[in-house]
Amino acid sequence: MDKTKIYIAGHNGMVGNAILRILKKKKNYIITKSRKDLDLTNQIEVKKFLNKERPDQIYIAAAKVGGILANSTFPAEFIYENLMIESNIIHNAFISGVKKILFLGSSCIYPKFSPQPIKERELLNSKLEPTNEAYAIAKIAGIKLCESYNRQYAKSHGIDYRSVMPTNLYGVGDHYDAQNSHVIPSLIKKFHEAKINKKSKVIIWGTGTPKREFLYVDDLARACILIMNLNKKKFYKKTDMNYNHINVGSGYELSIKNLAKKIKNITSFSGQIEFDHEKPDGMKRKKLDSKRIFNLGWKPKIDFETGLKKTYDDFKKNY
Ligand SMILES: NC(=O)c1ccc[n+]([C@@H]2O[C@H](COP(=O)([O-])OP(=O)(O)OC[C@H]3O[C@@H](n4cnc5c(N)ncnc54)[C@H](OP(=O)(O)O)[C@@H]3O)[C@@H](O)[C@H]2O)c1
Repeated sequence: MDKTKIYIAGHNGMVGNAILRILKKKKNYIITKSRKDLDLTNQIEVKKFLNKERPDQIYIAAAKVGGILANSTFPAEFIYENLMIESNIIHNAFISGVKKILFLGSSCIYPKFSPQPIKERELLNSKLEPTNEAYAIAKIAGIKLCESYNRQYAKSHGIDYRSVMPTNLYGVGDHYDAQNSHVIPSLIKKFHEAKINKKSKVIIWGTGTPKREFLYVDDLARACILIMNLNKKKFYKKTDMNYNHINVGSGYELSIKNLAKKIKNITSFSGQIEFDHEKPDGMKRKKLDSKRIFNLGWKPKIDFETGLKKTYDDFKKNY
């Protein structure tokens, strides 16, 4: 039997690399291209590449990604680059006869005041969080591109484009620069450097009371591969043509205060933790309702302590 030819867009990123690590073990025929060889915002280059390669499956894990600071400082770059990447890939994949795509979105696509835990159906029910609105709009467009191409061409061309919405991720290959990092990498760096510099305390923004859900990136990668390969009948039993995205959360939630304590322990920082109540907290709680993916037979395998240790080891290796 022929091997499945798979293109992973964004294979150097945290998510793309986790998907690559798993798929490599399964002896698939995998194609990758670094940004210097293929800028995915370039329509002509993407068209040429996909027309030449014509993969069976595409994972879209390439995106311009960043934390609150980057999102609120560079909204034009976030909306433009993400719209271009996903439009170029999805449209030219369709033109080149690619039947299967898995698009990666994010939990920030959901309205700011969605009832918790957030169900897939909450999409477009009310206003988004303003700080990452540009990014979220681009990601919503990616979901709607997949759904619209399915609606128009699934029957005539046999295409099946799907999307996943992961919760907050962490793990090997995360980013530690101040502009792009999320809460776990930024706390790991803060505590590690406080230990090295023998600081007496670490100051954390906000009250420490907001709760966040976290998922180890390899668990997400397994979910992506499962959803990509699930047969249509099973997949559409759990979704529908107008809301075919699937939340992927761990169900594991903890407060920023408890997260800080765990990171303090793992980095062996011996000073105090202080919370700066003058600084904003962000959303009080953000948890996905992941019943759909749980009902499809996936559950996370890596518990938080193990995942955090792997992440800190990876950080130290590259520090
Ligand atoms: N990290 C999270 O907590 C999280 C949570 C939920 C959802 N997600 C979603 O998962 C996806 C992947 O996120 P990630 O954390 O893996 O991000 P990441 O580590 O920043 O990886 C993104 C990848 O996309 C590539 N890329 C960006 N622009 C490109 C362009 N114009 N041409 C070619 N390649 C380009 C980057 O290439 P370079 O290496 O050259 O920069 C990088 O390899 C995103 O859609 C994100 O929304 C992430």
